[in-house]
Amino acid sequence: MNAWHDRFHQSMMGSMATPLGMLDRGEGCWVWDMDGMSYLDFLAGIAVNSLGHAHPVFVEAVSAQAARLAHVSNYFATEPQVALAERLKRLTGAGERGRVYFGNSGAEANEAAFKLARLQSTGERTRIITLVDSFHGRTMGGLALSGKPSMRADFEPVPGGVEHIEPTLDALERAIDGTVAALFVEPILGEAGVRPLPDGFLERARELTTQHGALLIIDEIQTGAGRTGRWFGFQHAGIVPDAVTLAKGIGGGFPIGALVTYGAASELFGPGQHGSTFGGNPLATATANAVLQEIESAGLVANAELRGQQLRAAITGIDSPLVTGVRGAGLLLGISLSEPVASEVVAAALREGLIINAPNPVSIRIAPPLIIGDTEIAEFTARFTRALESVRPVTAKETT
Ligand SMILES: Cc1ncc(COP(=O)(O)O)c(C=O)c1O
Repeated sequence: MNAWHDRFHQSMMGSMATPLGMLDRGEGCWVWDMDGMSYLDFLAGIAVNSLGHAHPVFVEAVSAQAARLAHVSNYFATEPQVALAERLKRLTGAGERGRVYFGNSGAEANEAAFKLARLQSTGERTRIITLVDSFHGRTMGGLALSGKPSMRADFEPVPGGVEHIEPTLDALERAIDGTVAALFVEPILGEAGVRPLPDGFLERARELTTQHGALLIIDEIQTGAGRTGRWFGFQHAGIVPDAVTLAKGIGGGFPIGALVTYGAASELFGPGQHGSTFGGNPLATATANAVLQEIESAGLVANAELRGQQLRAAITGIDSPLVTGVRGAGLLLGISLSEPVASEVVAAALREGLIINAPNPVSIRIAPPLIIGDTEIAEFTARFTRALESVRPVTAKETT
């Protein structure tokens, strides 16, 4: 066993699975491990490294802001913080009445949204609805919101009042009435295997929540920052939510989370009701500003859409008995497998110098940096094909 493996297990908490390797550096869409082996990174830290690794814009933003002012308390405002809030209001379409709260992670963004939902609760209006199989984070609030009972089983009791419904239009119709304070949804259930919502789900969710006075809160932590070929996943449906939660790709690798509210939902929080020491600090917000500015000026949202289509075509063209379909949007794609061998495929891909991920035994998730081009798509296709072939040779199909 490698030396890093022993050091890891003798020093790191046993709360996470054994890492696949130890990485040392990155550049563009590539990372290198401690032995100098290179990997094409088609996971981007799970939809985080929007600009890839060591992008000059990212490096310059972190370095310049660190040299100027890294942190102040919430007793003071800073220019990068306010500028990022203004930018997020513009990009999310939150408009004049929109407001932004900053935290440091996706789970913290959802904790803030959970409290927002509680502030919307009055009298009979107490229920919070989320989806079966959804993922909203690992904090106690995140566990309560997530539709994955096994994840919270060891930690009960989690905050109450949350119900999980199937992601179907029927279940939605049955669930939403005047007793609901908020509905939380991911536009694509990323951790559940990159499963898009049924057609018309978000549109109907908007109608029903508006009709019954409930908040529609969209978790854009995995789908936001251009990943799906729109700035935010909900924009495919043409709706306006009451709140969105953001993290991952907006920082491009720098930890940051945000809750953006629209309209009347912006008036729910009052002074002293929420906060975070690090939330919105100038280092994080200056970096996120630079990352989002680069996504805008380099046209990376359109690139995500275009490259996503090209990747779908490439994956569909792979001759393997294992691949049965591809789903998702832009550069958040799920590949369905005919057998529960996703972790074998991930391991085989790693041996081929390709980083991908298995959110469940029958799905592969890819979420590469938004900067990918023809070369990366060709490399991915060649390496992924070889990985599939090593798990199930094509001849296996021909003999059945
Ligand atoms: C949709 C969604 N919500 C929330 C989270 C939690 O974010 P974090 O791990 O930054 O706390 C994640 C992380 O994977 C996510 O994909």
